[in-house]
Amino acid sequence: MTQRVDDYRLKLGKHELVPIVIGGMGVDISAAELALEAARLGGIGHISDAMVPTVSDRRFKTGFVAEKLKKYKYNVASHDKSAVQFDLVRLAEATALHVGRTMEAKKGDGLIFINCMEKLTMNAPRETLRVRLTAAMDAGIDGITLSAGLHLGSLALVQDHPRFRDVHFGIIVSSLRALLLFLRKNARLNRLPDYIVVEGPLAGGHLGFGMDWAQYDLKTIVNEIHQHLKQEGLAIPVIPAGGIFTGTDAVEFLETGSAAVQVATRFTVTKECGLPDEVKQEYFKSREQDIEVNLVSPTGYPMRMLKSSPGLGAGIRPNCEAYGYLLDGSGNCAYIDAYNRELDKHPDADTLSVKDKTCLCTHMRNFDIWTCGHYTYRLKDTTRRLPDGSYQLLTAEQVFRDFQFSTEHKIALPEQQN
Ligand SMILES: Cc1cc2nc3c(=O)[nH]c(=O)nc-3n(C[C@H](O)[C@H](O)[C@H](O)COP(=O)(O)O)c2cc1C
Repeated sequence: MTQRVDDYRLKLGKHELVPIVIGGMGVDISAAELALEAARLGGIGHISDAMVPTVSDRRFKTGFVAEKLKKYKYNVASHDKSAVQFDLVRLAEATALHVGRTMEAKKGDGLIFINCMEKLTMNAPRETLRVRLTAAMDAGIDGITLSAGLHLGSLALVQDHPRFRDVHFGIIVSSLRALLLFLRKNARLNRLPDYIVVEGPLAGGHLGFGMDWAQYDLKTIVNEIHQHLKQEGLAIPVIPAGGIFTGTDAVEFLETGSAAVQVATRFTVTKECGLPDEVKQEYFKSREQDIEVNLVSPTGYPMRMLKSSPGLGAGIRPNCEAYGYLLDGSGNCAYIDAYNRELDKHPDADTLSVKDKTCLCTHMRNFDIWTCGHYTYRLKDTTRRLPDGSYQLLTAEQVFRDFQFSTEHKIALPEQQN
């Protein structure tokens, strides 16, 4: 009989889950509503810890951003952002709200994890990361997926937390080498990761590859990692991610030893996804040639996005006094340098255009950088066209069930909406 994802279960501690993980998508793209659906349906959903004070302001009418901006307003014209710091108490409050409210709303047998990006260095990498991790654990999160970085010291930051051995910790890697570094660095903690997400080159968001990403292949990397774990006698669940578009794609990984799959792109066009509806239509409409991997992210990692993203080429003044999530430990960000270079060249211009870098905080906050997975151009084949020419949004449940029960690479279209 043809296998379906539903023939498999992910065992994580005492939990038996539908082996579908919806990946973290910042900033608030993998919104609480989406994560909650995954958990209700028996899988795992992620919220994201990207720009949580900003997200909290939008969701819960807090005033974290205004407060920070007020404090540092004197500095907005300065090139030197080293003084602009996050108030750690406020950061913990914001995280507690975001995570706490989500966990209170949780129903069903699934789990809610938070995606925690090391590259959000926030002008004080260790301190802010410790606060974000601690506050999420305090607020009852089920698991933490460490992403966008090697996280060589992240677990040690919370080793004394009472939930250190109870919260599920996972790491996202894009190579065996990155996994080996993580395992070696954390060996003394006597705390292996509870799962390993192996993210290949077709994923959305930042990539763990160079601009030669197209030369890599998810199946090969997953196999290397399986072999290594087997050799070492380590039974850690492996969760491939990146370009898994149908239930059958997922089954191909599950029947060769992977424990679950992490998916995201298919869920970007659901009602529960945090993107504005107009942006969801852009994703539906896109063709393969409309998507690129570029280096505009100040993090230095390649990032995949629609070429028509309004944030590309924009030359806005850096908003670090309000945001500042990508400031490194010395208050620098590659966008500030790029912006100041253009400002020096065109001191009298009304507007500037900065092409090589983007103010990612501002543009992700405003949904103006349309990061997406490689197969975004296939989303139009997952739904119906409405009489006005737009595409019918899906529900998270439809997409989740399609992954869970479909066979032979078939995608069940939703019933036509009137
Ligand atoms: C819109 C979008 C935003 C993303 N943002 C993040 C992120 O903030 N952090 C992260 O670790 N991964 C991020 N990802 C990667 C996903 O979590 C996931 O691993 C990957 O996209 C899975 O591949 P798929 O999109 O082909 O299913 C993002 C993906 C998309 C599509």
